[in-house]
Amino acid sequence: MSIHKEVKRVTAHTLQWMKQHGEKISMLTAYDYSMAGIFDDANIDVLLVGDSASNVMAGNETTLPITLDQMIYHASSVIRAISRCMVVVDLPFGSYQGNSKEALNSAIRIMKETGAHAIKLEGGEEVLESIKRIISAGVPVMGHLGLTPQSINKFGTYSVRAKEEAEAAALIKNAHLLEEAGCFSLVLEKIPATLGKQVAEELKIPVIGIGAGMHVDGQVLVMHDMLGITKDFSPRFLRRYLNLYEQIKEATEHYIADVKAKEFPNEQEQY
Ligand code: KIV
Repeated sequence: MSIHKEVKRVTAHTLQWMKQHGEKISMLTAYDYSMAGIFDDANIDVLLVGDSASNVMAGNETTLPITLDQMIYHASSVIRAISRCMVVVDLPFGSYQGNSKEALNSAIRIMKETGAHAIKLEGGEEVLESIKRIISAGVPVMGHLGLTPQSINKFGTYSVRAKEEAEAAALIKNAHLLEEAGCFSLVLEKIPATLGKQVAEELKIPVIGIGAGMHVDGQVLVMHDMLGITKDFSPRFLRRYLNLYEQIKEATEHYIADVKAKEFPNEQEQY
C-alpha cells in the first residue's frame, strides 16, 4: 500500500512530507460534486477547482470570462463531495490583478464561501505583494508559472514556455520569489523537462507539473483531458486514461435507439 492512503486529510504539510520522502503528488481538476466524490474515493491527493472550468464546463475559448461567483459555485460543489483530499481553488482573471486588497478580498471570499483549503493564482514578481498579503491572512497559496493561460492575450499562443535562456532564468527567479513569499507549492505548466527538474531540485516546496516532465514532485491534468471527454486537445504531455467521449456517445446512441424502438422501458422497468 502506498504511504499516502494512510493519510486521513491531505494538507500542505502532507504534500511537503511527500516531497521529502520522494512520494509523487497526484492532482486533478474537478468542478462538480459527482466527479469530485469519485476522485476523492480513488485517493487523489489534491483536487484543483481550476479556472479551466471556463473552457471545459462553460465552453469558452479562454479562461478569462469565468467569474469569482462562478468559481465559488464550482468549489462549493467539490467541497461537499470530499473527505480526504486537499482542495485548491483558482483565483479567476480580474479578481486579483488590480491590487493586493482586491486579491485578499477574493481569496477570503473563496475560503469563507466554499470551505476550500487553499487558493492558486498565476504569476511571479508582479503578484508577489498580493501573495504575501493573502498568506499573512492565513490562506495557503499555490503559485503557477510557465504557461499562464490568464495571460494568453499577452503571449498569443499556448506553446511551450521558457525554452530560451532569458525566460528560463526569469522563471527560476520567480519560483524562488514565490517560495520565499511563503507559497506552499508551485504549478509549472508546459515548460522543458530539464527546467522542471532544476526548479524542483532547487525549491524546498513541492513542484507540481502539467507538461513539465517527469522529475517534478507531482502531476496535474485537467479531468476532461485525462478521461478523454475532450477529443480535439492532444498536447504531447497528455495521457488519456479513458476514451469517454466515444463511450458516452455510443451509450447515448444506444439509449436513443432503444427509445425509438420502444425497447426502453421494458416490463420490469415500469410501475
Ligand atoms: O485551471 C486549470 O485547470 C489549471 C491547471 C492546468 C493547472 O490551472
